[in-house]
Amino acid sequence: MTEVALVPSPEAGAALAAGLIAETLAQRADAVLGVATGSTPLGVWAQLRDQGVDVASTPAFALDEYVGLRTGHPESYRSVLEREYAAPLGVDPTLLRVPGDDGGPLATAGARFEAAITRAGGIDLQILGIGRTGHIGFNEPGSSLASRTRVKALTEQTRSDNARFFDHAGQVPTHCLTQGLGTILQARTLVLLAFGSAKSNAVTRAVEGPLSSSCPGSVIQLHPHVIVIVDEEAGASLEYRDYYRFAWEHRSLDSIQAPA
Ligand code: PGA
Repeated sequence: MTEVALVPSPEAGAALAAGLIAETLAQRADAVLGVATGSTPLGVWAQLRDQGVDVASTPAFALDEYVGLRTGHPESYRSVLEREYAAPLGVDPTLLRVPGDDGGPLATAGARFEAAITRAGGIDLQILGIGRTGHIGFNEPGSSLASRTRVKALTEQTRSDNARFFDHAGQVPTHCLTQGLGTILQARTLVLLAFGSAKSNAVTRAVEGPLSSSCPGSVIQLHPHVIVIVDEEAGASLEYRDYYRFAWEHRSLDSIQAPA
């Protein structure tokens, strides 16, 4: 089922996500994390540090990577995750895997990445953002709902949204490697975070819209254990938000009261 947590601020959402990671690690010492780039997860990494959650020896698999940037390019997702996730949290960089970072041929990079996830025992908790196109990972509209890790072309919308990380829009790669939607569905828990009004349309389509490759994020509806964390702005157009709020506040079985 999809649970939707409407939180008062991005900081509160990041704290909640960090707490969910901590719970996963407490339940399973050899847990494997799925990590994401973009602006949204940054607060989660800060909260892991503030809450003293020890991910130093936890294997982590990234969702996606640009194709065409030189190794070590500061905006490659490998570099971003080393800088923003691994270094501050003391994670051994060899425990971090990013699609295509093993130096092998691009054509088989997806299959190698999938094999590495399988060897690690699968991903226990996958952190997800969502793009304005409805993408999760870099699965742009039209992505097969059963897709596996592979090369994809980026939409102009995504390239322009990501131009802020580069000197100019022309430097944003046209292609990427991304975990497929079928790959993402195999993680045992999905935690999708979205903040701000620019995400509200994508969030509503993902959570309440028809299951459709036109909104790749809607594939979360097929997953049995998803927690969507949104602030009031990102959750503003959810039709059932009052119900989600009630269900989240009463998610503990102990909170269920007999009707008067
Ligand atoms: P953002 O990106 O966190 O930078 O908004 C999310 C995404 O594109 O998946």
